[in-house]
Amino acid sequence: MRRAVCPGSFDPITNGHLDIIGRASRLYDVVHVAVMINQSKKGLFSVEERIELIREATADYGNIVVESHHGLLVDFCKERDIPAIVKGLRAVSDFDYELQMAQMNNGLSGVETLFIPTNPTYSFLSSSLVKEVAAWGGDVAHLLPEHVHAELTKRLAEKRAQAQEN
Ligand code: PNS
Repeated sequence: MRRAVCPGSFDPITNGHLDIIGRASRLYDVVHVAVMINQSKKGLFSVEERIELIREATADYGNIVVESHHGLLVDFCKERDIPAIVKGLRAVSDFDYELQMAQMNNGLSGVETLFIPTNPTYSFLSSSLVKEVAAWGGDVAHLLPEHVHAELTKRLAEKRAQAQEN
């Protein structure tokens, strides 16, 4: 059984993430999507909410397992016997840090990192930019799965209402 992991924060999952997960799912028997917990970053969505959004977005692929992990990615891989990390590369600017992480992860445990060039349609896309644009009323519907866009719109409206109360 060939296994790989697509790790990330996924706050929330975008069409760019989905493109990489979908392409990985055609190359591997099982693709684990690991929502990595970073306690120093407060997300817009809880880890459980992110997992649910990813599950719904990837339900049709048939070979995706969505989990969270607190700790090193190499430990997630070791515990599940996963030999490969699959990541999307959007632009040269991604490469510096991704190369460092790939080399560190390989040095720590021998796990390999495979890079998939992002679909150019999504080369500018990140969860942070989507949240920022949406918070200022910009249209991001074409950049997210429909249910994720609906949840994002709802969450931002809740935040606006809370801010007005305070
Ligand atoms: O979506 P992001 O925030 O760009 O993803 C970055 C992520 C979560 C994949 C990366 O920070 C990571 O692998 N974190 C897990 C902790 C870890 O293993 N750190 C050492 C990396 S060499």
